[in-house]
Amino acid sequence: MTENASSAPWWASAVFYQVYPRSFADGNGDGTGDLIGLRSHLGHLVELGVDALWLSPFYRSPMADGGYDVADPCDVDPLFGTLADFDDLLAEAHALGIRVTVDIVPNHFSDQHPWFQQALAAAPGSPERARFIFRSGQGDQPPNNWPSVFGGPAWTRVADAPDGSSQWFLHLFAPEQPDLDWTNPEVPAEYERVLRFWLDRGVDGFRIDVAHGMAKPAGLPDMDPALVAALADGVHMPSAVDPRWDDDSVHEIHRGFRRVLDSYPGARMAVGEAWVPDDARLAAYVRPDELNLTFNFELVEAAWGARPFGAAIEASLAAMSEVGAPCSWVLGNHDVDRPVTRYGDGADGVRRARAAALVQLSLPGAVYIYNGDELGLPNVELPDSALQDPTWERSGHTMRGRDGERVPVPWSGTTPPYGFSTTASTWLPMPDDWAEFTVAAEAAQPDSTLALFRAATRLRRELDGTDFAWLDAPEDALSYRRGGVTVVVNFGSAPVALPEGEVLLASGALLEGAVPADTAAWVRTSG
Ligand code: GLC
Repeated sequence: MTENASSAPWWASAVFYQVYPRSFADGNGDGTGDLIGLRSHLGHLVELGVDALWLSPFYRSPMADGGYDVADPCDVDPLFGTLADFDDLLAEAHALGIRVTVDIVPNHFSDQHPWFQQALAAAPGSPERARFIFRSGQGDQPPNNWPSVFGGPAWTRVADAPDGSSQWFLHLFAPEQPDLDWTNPEVPAEYERVLRFWLDRGVDGFRIDVAHGMAKPAGLPDMDPALVAALADGVHMPSAVDPRWDDDSVHEIHRGFRRVLDSYPGARMAVGEAWVPDDARLAAYVRPDELNLTFNFELVEAAWGARPFGAAIEASLAAMSEVGAPCSWVLGNHDVDRPVTRYGDGADGVRRARAAALVQLSLPGAVYIYNGDELGLPNVELPDSALQDPTWERSGHTMRGRDGERVPVPWSGTTPPYGFSTTASTWLPMPDDWAEFTVAAEAAQPDSTLALFRAATRLRRELDGTDFAWLDAPEDALSYRRGGVTVVVNFGSAPVALPEGEVLLASGALLEGAVPADTAAWVRTSG
């Protein structure tokens, strides 16, 4: 684990790989991925050229939201193993030169966390309730009109005090995820303990869940009812008009996290999950005394096309450079449709997702790869009966949720469970037609998506520390230079001329002297 050639810290240009623990590899045969399964597949990550892992939650949890409902942030859920398994995983990853970062979920606890159980048992106005956001309702109505992200109101009423008064508690997500009150000093103190617990064990950093959500506006004002209606229709709304997110006081919380990180040796880091579409407001999360990185979701949200991709790259680079932070580029994660599916599924989707990967891996900054995207997996259409995401129930079966991108990773063989587990009863069913997507099958194919990712992460090291500059390109294409390498991406249908030079890598077959539709190429044009 050496620092890269420049003086930049390791995370500034790292390839991070997100492991969604339930779906990566099952080591004990119960149909759900776990830490020993992950440990026994670290070789895949070495071959893939990964610098660091981001592990989604593996903490004690009743799994109301796949582990993002944490009942004990300092212990491993038996579903995933033990603390000793975690220590073994960390030691082995480090020995292989892979850093390990873990999720923390500071916006809320599980309703099974002892603090919430104590709060329920205590009276309104008690110190136990003051760790969460309990309020009186307005008659029979909740304290305000906020909806939850997973559908339904963001408030749940509790059976209450002997005098018949009853309070409501806030949950921006499921009712099993009560929001913490970060203005109560007990909460930051508890999270400092959690960070130190994992830092002392040797983790290299954190991914901060809902980093734009912990601070609520004073007085919890109602939302514009038109916004509530639009959200219920599934319309995506910017945080600028939605009081639930991105309150200015959240930054003090991140400064507190940073102080803890900086008190440890070895460039420990944190990346924020802040869904803040305003670039300047997003950049505020990575000011010099706040988080180190914040996910750039602009590429995830960009439709396939030269203009949307160009605008996303340009805006992100400009905003981050204002505060002196690197970008961290994201094409997929456990919350969004897989790139192949977003770009149209089938052969088109695969071709575009491969080209997008060559864009992502050639940009300056850090990149995050979601497990399975390196195989070009599509989303899976699951039967209703298989759905597990709380969104499905909470939305009254109108939103299917995120299970389609969480189907387990196929490793080998020609039928489910494709080496993921020893049982075919995997926590989400695996499709019958995934034989071509297994790690083993793709490793044997020189033109597979896996082979492309492996080559790209290797070549990407040459780009470290080089400048980024746009080059002229036809309307449906993008072109830019990183040091001596020129990247050409053709989003349109007419072929785009290849520059003079040595083709280092292409996301698909090239034409004579030209890049065909939905294809990207890296060309050494000088040096
Ligand atoms: C984040 C996670 C998502 C989870 C939510 C609530 O957005 O990525 O999976 O449901 O937070 O914790």
